[in-house]
Amino acid sequence: MAGGPSTPELVAAVTRTGAGGFLAAGYLAPEAVAAQLRRTAELTHGRPFGVNLFVVEETPVDEAELQRFSAALEPYAREVGAELAEPTFDDDAFAAKLDIVLAERPAWVSFTFGCPDAEVFTALADRGIVSAQTVTDSDEARIAAERGADVLVVQGPEAGGHRGTLRADVWPTDTPLVELLQDIADIGVPMVAAGGIATRADVRRVLDHGARAAQIGTALLLADEAGTNPTHRAALRSEEFATTVVTRAFTGRPARGLANTVARLEAPAAYPHVHTMTSAFRKAAAAQGRADLTHLWAGLRYREAQPGPAAGIITALVP
Ligand SMILES: Cc1cc2nc3c(=O)[nH]c(=O)nc-3n(C[C@H](O)[C@H](O)[C@H](O)COP(=O)(O)O)c2cc1C
Repeated sequence: MAGGPSTPELVAAVTRTGAGGFLAAGYLAPEAVAAQLRRTAELTHGRPFGVNLFVVEETPVDEAELQRFSAALEPYAREVGAELAEPTFDDDAFAAKLDIVLAERPAWVSFTFGCPDAEVFTALADRGIVSAQTVTDSDEARIAAERGADVLVVQGPEAGGHRGTLRADVWPTDTPLVELLQDIADIGVPMVAAGGIATRADVRRVLDHGARAAQIGTALLLADEAGTNPTHRAALRSEEFATTVVTRAFTGRPARGLANTVARLEAPAAYPHVHTMTSAFRKAAAAQGRADLTHLWAGLRYREAQPGPAAGIITALVP
């Protein structure tokens, strides 16, 4: 869970229960990824954990649409005294982060947003690192399987945060998670199920539908060890927001979060341009407690999320 919630302490607490904690490398500088990997290794005393990398490919963006959207956001940015930045592309330093991962050798590496080339999967396999690729439909699952992913993280539309669609300019399917698992099972690559998993019964259900494991995000957002900011934590527990929505308004890629003022705006498909443009604005809004203006990622089942130590949250989910 990039962008704050992921911390070495959270990954270690999850890993110590016997579950597979994943560190988020997205948005971090490569040096910070290296430091967090080492810190997590110290805290986990040799137990296996994973790291997640963004694979960002450049797709054409509509500059006029970006300017229009920037103008629509401008009054909100002014309210929190922030400037909107120039919308620019960057690839989240993929090559540098991959080099760090190949050197540090965590047990698992997962990819989201795009699917790396076959050579990347081979390099990981050569080092004994198990690879996983997030997919949101059976076409994506086939691509990942052909390139050599060891595991498919099948993410359903119930999921909080970004959808892991391989193309930023495609709106993801709303086929429910258990149907996706059924569609993808015959590819024959082990599946991890993600999206809206909030109770022990939910875990059982995905295991009964062919998944080898269940992945959770939102259920950990209120954990003591999570770095979730106070505005986000309070919003998840408040009556102010009654629903979630899939929106491009914060980053230019579809992501599910609480339905606040900005989430309801129409925005162009332009990742990470919109992310770059709004990043300082969203940080300022969060710091000022403006839950109406910042991103509040949340899956469909966010009402089930409980505060407390991560170990208790995980234990309550294990069948
Ligand atoms: C706050 C937040 C941040 C996330 N960041 C990432 C990320 O950096 N990389 C990734 O692959 N998935 C990310 N996800 C998606 C999760 O991996 C997972 O698909 C999702 O949380 C599952 O749905 P759930 O939130 O209903 O449990 C994030 C989800 C949330 C809620």
